[in-house]
Amino acid sequence: MAPGWWTEAVIYQIYPRSFADSDSDGIGDLPGITARLGHLAELGVDAVWLSPFYPSPQADAGYDVADYRDVDPLFGSLADADRLIAEARAKGLKVIVDLVPNHTSSAHRWFRAAVAAAPGSPERGRYIFRDGLGPDGAEPPNDWQSVFGGPAWTRLVEPDGRPGQWYLHLFDTAQPDLNWDNPEIRAEFLDVLRFWLDRGVDGFRVDVAHGLIKQADLANWEEPQEILSGNEADKPRPPMWDQDGVHEVYREWRRVLDSYDGDRILVAEAWVEPAERIARYVRPDEMHQAFNFEYLLAAWTAPTQYAVITRSLEATDAVGAPTTWVLSNHDVIRHASRLGLSAQGGRPNGIGIGDPQPDAALGLRRGRAATLLMLALPGSAYLYQGEELGLPEHTTLPDESRQDPTWERSGHTQRGRDGCRVPIPWEADAPSYGFGPTDASWLPQPPLWAEYALDRQRGVAGSTYETYRTALRLRREHALGRGTLEWLSSGDEVLSFRNGGLTVLTNFGTAAVPPPAGELLHSSAPLDADGRVPTDVTVWVRHS
Ligand code: GLC
Repeated sequence: MAPGWWTEAVIYQIYPRSFADSDSDGIGDLPGITARLGHLAELGVDAVWLSPFYPSPQADAGYDVADYRDVDPLFGSLADADRLIAEARAKGLKVIVDLVPNHTSSAHRWFRAAVAAAPGSPERGRYIFRDGLGPDGAEPPNDWQSVFGGPAWTRLVEPDGRPGQWYLHLFDTAQPDLNWDNPEIRAEFLDVLRFWLDRGVDGFRVDVAHGLIKQADLANWEEPQEILSGNEADKPRPPMWDQDGVHEVYREWRRVLDSYDGDRILVAEAWVEPAERIARYVRPDEMHQAFNFEYLLAAWTAPTQYAVITRSLEATDAVGAPTTWVLSNHDVIRHASRLGLSAQGGRPNGIGIGDPQPDAALGLRRGRAATLLMLALPGSAYLYQGEELGLPEHTTLPDESRQDPTWERSGHTQRGRDGCRVPIPWEADAPSYGFGPTDASWLPQPPLWAEYALDRQRGVAGSTYETYRTALRLRREHALGRGTLEWLSSGDEVLSFRNGGLTVLTNFGTAAVPPPAGELLHSSAPLDADGRVPTDVTVWVRHS
């Protein structure tokens, strides 16, 4: 059987709020996306993944879902979703939607029913309710912290007005965690999968895939809460992340997907380390892909990049799955800025006025080099809207305009993720840079957006947009996604490898180096006057 499309696909993440606004409310929507699909076909990606557009109070920008089978009026209607899927298909693009199974919105009918019902009721049994500790139950059931800061438990006021039970929310208070030990929850999500598969989607990106099952005793966990579950040999696994029970859920989902025609996929958002642990999510009867966050978090040095690429390939090879690569998404600092920070690696959570600012030119230069390195690797790659424009993080967003719940919940210590979510620029001279018909924009766009606008870069040789477009074309022509990587050099300064007919070289050192022998097909920035590859540049060469 031919390998599935997804094994080598380039998948473009659309964050619907910030992609294109058709109705001037300052929030992007599905008709806006449909009208701009031509951009994605021209760019040359294979698929789009849409972040949530379901009915939601938007406490966490739609990752708080109140109804899994509808579209929020903010974003349009089910008919708009159908049109988007059909138009995408007509343009040869697959469509992946976001599924948020770890928690619902507190506005979901199930949670409302749970709040109205008594302790011990079947309604409460859909979530994780517990009595508090201490004589009057005033202490939370355990010491878990929310990923967004503050305790992971909130106490209810019972229908009779007395303080009552506590419910678990690993994220915001408006995102109660579901009880995945309850068969009703499992059945519901199988049905939700079918609902969207029947509408023609090509797959699901599964939110917080490592969180569904909690250790049965809800044991205390003194460590600071992070979405990333590290698994250092000398430490126990956190009781809320990467429990073995999650895999049974995905095996069941896989059977549903396999019962449909075509090649539909499941993609795990699982912040799990090390690579061998994440590979467990993509065993042959589970999901198809998992985001490679270890790669995203890796520092920009040759030894680190070499190690993470090698480890990632080995770990997925061991289970027969393709590797994925990703540099940016809606939860992290855009890589064109992250790579310009003086401290490399890890996951800084937002940058604001008064914080050390990234070196913008260095970040973009490294960002383009990193992208060309990534797009030459075998496997599947994810792009985040705007990175094809070289868009930086908005690092001077006024704190008053922040919307990420992280900012409030962390007591203003973590600025959060708004800086990568600012509506993107299409036309330099249009209101809201072409994001919508008027100036309305749910997060303020900085003036420098004009220089990154698509219309300033289209057809301009050497622009970031044209650099991405050429890379995607060559990647397809040379079938790089389904190739094999063979290292040629893995020193401290230079990484170089072969993939099929191409030799790829990235210069991490301080001095320019000669390019590999052969015909230069592409580079992330011009070579120097002597034809050498300067610092922080990647080249693609057709070897003879
Ligand atoms: C995932 C999403 C993130 C969201 C969180 C809670 O990590 O990517 O945006 O806040 O889950 O749903």
